[in-house]
Amino acid sequence: TQLVAVKRPQLHFTAKKNWINDPNGLFFDGKQYHMYFQHNPNGVGHGYMSWGHAVSTDLVNWEELPIAILHGDVADIFSGSIVVDHENTSGFGDGTVPPVIAIYTAAAKDESNQSQAIAYSLDGGETFTKYEQNPVLDRGSKDFRDPKVIRYESERGSYWVMVAVEAIERRVLVYRSENFKDWTELSSFGPQSAIAGIWECPDLFQLPVAGTDQLKWVLIVSLNPGGVAGGSGTQYFIGEFDGTSFTPDQDQQVRDSFEFESLKQGNWLDWGRDFYAGVSFHGLPADQQTVIAWMSNWDYARELPHDGWRGSMSTARRLDLVKNSDGKFEIRQCILGLPASEVAASVAPAGEGRIELGSPALLELAVGGDANGSAALSLFRADDTLISELTIESELIQHRRETGKVDHELYASNQRMPLPADTGELTVQVLVDHGSVEILAANGLRSLTDQLTGEEAPAYATLRVATGASVTFKVLPLSDKSVEL
Ligand code: FRU
Repeated sequence: TQLVAVKRPQLHFTAKKNWINDPNGLFFDGKQYHMYFQHNPNGVGHGYMSWGHAVSTDLVNWEELPIAILHGDVADIFSGSIVVDHENTSGFGDGTVPPVIAIYTAAAKDESNQSQAIAYSLDGGETFTKYEQNPVLDRGSKDFRDPKVIRYESERGSYWVMVAVEAIERRVLVYRSENFKDWTELSSFGPQSAIAGIWECPDLFQLPVAGTDQLKWVLIVSLNPGGVAGGSGTQYFIGEFDGTSFTPDQDQQVRDSFEFESLKQGNWLDWGRDFYAGVSFHGLPADQQTVIAWMSNWDYARELPHDGWRGSMSTARRLDLVKNSDGKFEIRQCILGLPASEVAASVAPAGEGRIELGSPALLELAVGGDANGSAALSLFRADDTLISELTIESELIQHRRETGKVDHELYASNQRMPLPADTGELTVQVLVDHGSVEILAANGLRSLTDQLTGEEAPAYATLRVATGASVTFKVLPLSDKSVEL
């Protein structure tokens, strides 16, 4: 693959060098956010999988620390999660600090087995010791992976709950443990909704329903391929978890399909090409629940041009739930850590106008008038090359252009995002950084994330407004300063 000069994103995590994929073990320790990630310490391809580590106080600026968990001779360290064991249920603590426990998939390098293993840290998550009696959970399966553990608390007591996938079977398995070492199977969920690809990286957590004091449970399931935009994608289910099993509010029909018309019926955390393996933080209350995803797609991740480092994470998204007009709940997202700015809004007249962006930048549109308003926003490099175009009508379509920076048949593509029926004036936020565009529409009810690989953040946009439509916009130039959370 090509080696090209790639500008580092300013608002997204990248590793200093080499390959990254899924975020792992996200946790907040009361002062800092920790992000571990799938990392190859030896090269720009997927291999020697280990857990890299970075910390941040604002979820925008990250400091990369030494590798936290290194692959072994016979097994790689695949995706998983972290908890802080405040009550020392595991016995790993030494009585001074609560142990930080990582649970990950030990993936045999010869692909003969995937089992769940643990490692503990007594220095707040910097260095880990692998448990001598690993694995803690082995089903004799080749595709049992991505354990995400939460502390389940109820009047009947507290215990650890793990969700992990039997990837090929399209099932999420739920396990329970008192001591983090012995695990008992409780239930299984799936196959349900999109299943054309295998299931990976599940997550189970609670979110508040906006404007109420109600909490609902959310189950996230990544799948690859078979995502709504092609290749890797992230779907979700909303329902209840009773400490044993997850029950969705509405059972969803199985969609063993790659067709958009079928897939669009499901619930998608993102409608773009590059938002995969998103998981939430341990250590945040439900009303601050936050997700970060790997901003790539297995369709082409291994073949994208690189500059000694390959892969980046999405911005951090805070989530909550909104009840729509059919009485169904939907996830709403808000991008965290962007600097607030006092920029006046301008009204775009019908016809075409040019908007200078500066990089990185957040462009906010409010589209009203006829047919939900009809507008198009094109993003250009300083040399006038069109890199992507967003058309805004009854649905939103992001057209990612071939610019010569990427030589991959799956790169140039159109991503469609249906809009909620009862939007009225449509808000569209467009966050551009070097190498990506993230679009949040309908007040965060819809999200579409695309890499713009190898591209510098666009220098300017053109906005075309149809007669009868009305668009107001503002550009918020973003510095590397971020807001306090
Ligand atoms: C998802 C995934 C996980 C696995 C990891 C390996 O992108 O395939 O299922 O644990 O990546 O790096």
